[in-house]
Amino acid sequence: MSEAAAARFDSPESPPLLALSGIVVEFPGVKALRGVDLDVRAGSVHGLMGENGAGKSTLLKVMSGVNIPRSGTIRVDGQELSFRGAADALEAGIAIIYQELHLVPGLSAAENLMLGQLPSRMGLIDRKALRARAEAVLRDLGEDIDPSTPVGRLSIGQRQMVEIGKALLREARIIAFDEPTSSLSAREVENLKRIVRRLRDEGRAIVYVTHRMAELFELCDAVTVFRDGARVAHHPTMETVTQDRLVTEMVGRAIEDIYGWSPRPVGEVVAAIDGLTGPGLRAPVSFNVRAGEIVGFFGLVGAGRTELMRLLCGTERATGGSVTLRGKALRMGSPRRAIEAGIAMCPEDRKREGIFPIASVNDNINISVRRRYARAGLVDFAREKQNAIRAIRDLDVRTASGETQIRTLSGGNQQKAILGRWLSEKIELFVLDEPTRGIDVGARAQIYKILYDLAEKGIGVIVVSSDLPEVSSICDRVLVMADGRLTADVPRDEITPERLLGHALPQ
Ligand SMILES: Nc1ncnc2c1ncn2[C@@H]1O[C@H](COP(=O)(O)OP(=O)(O)OP(=O)(O)O)[C@@H](O)[C@H]1O
Ligand SMILES: [Mg+2]
Repeated sequence: MSEAAAARFDSPESPPLLALSGIVVEFPGVKALRGVDLDVRAGSVHGLMGENGAGKSTLLKVMSGVNIPRSGTIRVDGQELSFRGAADALEAGIAIIYQELHLVPGLSAAENLMLGQLPSRMGLIDRKALRARAEAVLRDLGEDIDPSTPVGRLSIGQRQMVEIGKALLREARIIAFDEPTSSLSAREVENLKRIVRRLRDEGRAIVYVTHRMAELFELCDAVTVFRDGARVAHHPTMETVTQDRLVTEMVGRAIEDIYGWSPRPVGEVVAAIDGLTGPGLRAPVSFNVRAGEIVGFFGLVGAGRTELMRLLCGTERATGGSVTLRGKALRMGSPRRAIEAGIAMCPEDRKREGIFPIASVNDNINISVRRRYARAGLVDFAREKQNAIRAIRDLDVRTASGETQIRTLSGGNQQKAILGRWLSEKIELFVLDEPTRGIDVGARAQIYKILYDLAEKGIGVIVVSSDLPEVSSICDRVLVMADGRLTADVPRDEITPERLLGHALPQ
């Protein structure tokens, strides 16, 4: 925070705009928050960090009146409030921009904004004036949003701006963001940062949850670290904090090198992709993946990487070209045949394609092996259970039990459970699309280790990632895509950020 801003909005003597103290939240079998304190000052961005399942999202839901704490107090401007539901928190000027956005897809951007107005006030407000204000707010947020576009047709970044717009129309003074950049393009990230800084400079109190260190240091004025439902560290200024120190506080131990790559023997070609064409590709794509090789796919959002992987895994129909697995031509266009041939896929959008939300963690893990473990048409529950126990242990999935509904797990733990699906399968090629999005550093290191182990066994691995340090550090080779085309094939010892980015920018 600039000094001028500090002087204008806050002084150390004045109470913090938002003060949570002794917050306890329990779910059946889980103590999500064990008496947590958090002070957030006006005119500052307060970062929250912590492992997957540490309780960050839960705390935000306490601030927004969605989770009602068993004990603890919430003060806004020094005044104690008790929230009975989301409306009370809104009334108190608190808005949350959630990990999953909550807009109505069929309504236009402007209509969604207007929905944000409290219904009781609706009758008294001139709709026309309201629409004009909604449009002005949208214009102001950048991202070039046509107010009459149905929200379902907006990009994730634009939808997020509509959410922020809703908060602004309600004149929220406290705005909390839950991993807001995890699905944004590079340009959208820049716009979001600009908006966050502006909201701060206007004197609002911002709470900012992120797993991305660089972002934390760029944006935040203070940081609080959570572990296992408790606050383990608080740094009122970023000046005395280092990245290593935060990692240690988060995971409870030092991690020397989260990437931990070492050279590995590479064998025969496992998968040969030749002249593949189809939706999302603007030129035929050819490449090979060898046994024991980890091949990265880098590119900007929209470069065609996810589309390429969907063609490869049969979830989208190719219009031409071939895929050969261990010398055998794959009959394309069917995910089932791809799985039977030994291709495993961990999709990018776990909400839509990855999980069965109301099914248990065990069932979500076993979904791919069900046929194998079913003897004579009967499900072998004992073996399935063993399989799930092993996956939960190997991936350190934090869940009360295997029977818990997967939707109640924290975002990162859902992702780990889905990865666990494939560990007991016989696979030749493992395709992972943004596998560490929303994953904490400790769990990332575990996931990388699992990928190295799989590669060591002779499996070919493809990792689609927009995280430059990640692709540069864990891959043996990086293919770059831009604009629906393959633009470069860079061996490990030639990888530099400039080179990858240079090939990723549309020509
Ligand atoms: N509705 C719920 N029912 C049961 N348990 C829940 C529910 N919501 C959260 N939990 C549990 O509370 C704990 C904290 O979860 P939370 O989502 O707050 O973690 P997080 O810090 O946001 O993690 P991530 O970085 O993965 O998003 C987890 O153990 C989670 O499984
Ligand atoms: Mg969360």
